[in-house]
Amino acid sequence: IFALTFLTACTPKAIDYEQVSEKEKIVIRFSHVVGEDTPKGQAARLFAKLLKERTNGKVEVQVFSNGSLYKDTEELNALAEGHVQMVAPAISKLTDLIPELGVFDLPYLYPDLNGYHQVLDGTAGKSIAERLKKNHMILLGIWDNGLKQFTNNVKPIRAPEDLAGLTMRIMPSTVLDHQFKMLQVRPVPINFNDVYLALEEGKINGQENTISNIYTKRFYQVQRYMTLSNHGYLGYLVIMNESFWNRLPSDIQKDITDTMRDVTKWERDEAVKIEQEQLKEINKCSCIQIVQLNEAEKERWKQFYQPLYQEMKQKFGPGIFEEFGL
Ligand code: LMR
Repeated sequence: IFALTFLTACTPKAIDYEQVSEKEKIVIRFSHVVGEDTPKGQAARLFAKLLKERTNGKVEVQVFSNGSLYKDTEELNALAEGHVQMVAPAISKLTDLIPELGVFDLPYLYPDLNGYHQVLDGTAGKSIAERLKKNHMILLGIWDNGLKQFTNNVKPIRAPEDLAGLTMRIMPSTVLDHQFKMLQVRPVPINFNDVYLALEEGKINGQENTISNIYTKRFYQVQRYMTLSNHGYLGYLVIMNESFWNRLPSDIQKDITDTMRDVTKWERDEAVKIEQEQLKEINKCSCIQIVQLNEAEKERWKQFYQPLYQEMKQKFGPGIFEEFGL
């Protein structure tokens, strides 16, 4: 059995995946940075299981979780160079390559996940897929983690002024950087799997993330306060290396597309359940004080961020908001 996995370093265009013959087993290496007990972790495993079943074992998806193979900052290169064939980074982490995706980092873009789904499953999704294709990547699906919350070890956060003077970890994204600078925060981009230590050692005061990431990476055990602000979206672009995709037989491409559609539906429901369960677990620990923002407070945050919307409309051009259907 010949595995369709290439470990030699080469530039994206130089990869030459060989045409898959009938008898060959296809190995898809899928790398991601979060824990197993998260929406992405669970969905990656289900995708592997279903695809194996549906192809009678011809396709084997090997899932590498927790950044065990590549860190956040390494996984796109690893995909481009063919060391892995699938990754599912946060949208924010693609903003270096495709800056316009930064609009999805705007705070309070939509009040709930349905708002994001409507655009991502429609016009925005199509235009994201085209942009990825120009960068030799195939968009297979868009998965949720959920909405982000603030944690910190200095004080309870209720209003935008409360964060002033803090040092906070962010994902690498210009829009996130601007957002935090508006709050008089010092934003520091740090790889996801280095955040716990940075919090524990006090190198940073806090961070923003979803409940499942806060829970599975135990950030709540080294943070005193968490504000349930639901202020930003953490979604994933599930992508495959284009040359690898092009070499797959069309029946396998179809199995992948169909399986991804089913898993995406399951993943989004699961994300909501996981968030509810893990928030209960965090509550049980009584090691972190939880602040719940009321509607009036949320409204203040939204008003506070209005200048950022204007700034980003100028930066990206109003056309992108129309193109994405925002
Ligand atoms: C983060 O870096 O905080 C997240 O993007 C990690 C993830 O993949 O959910």
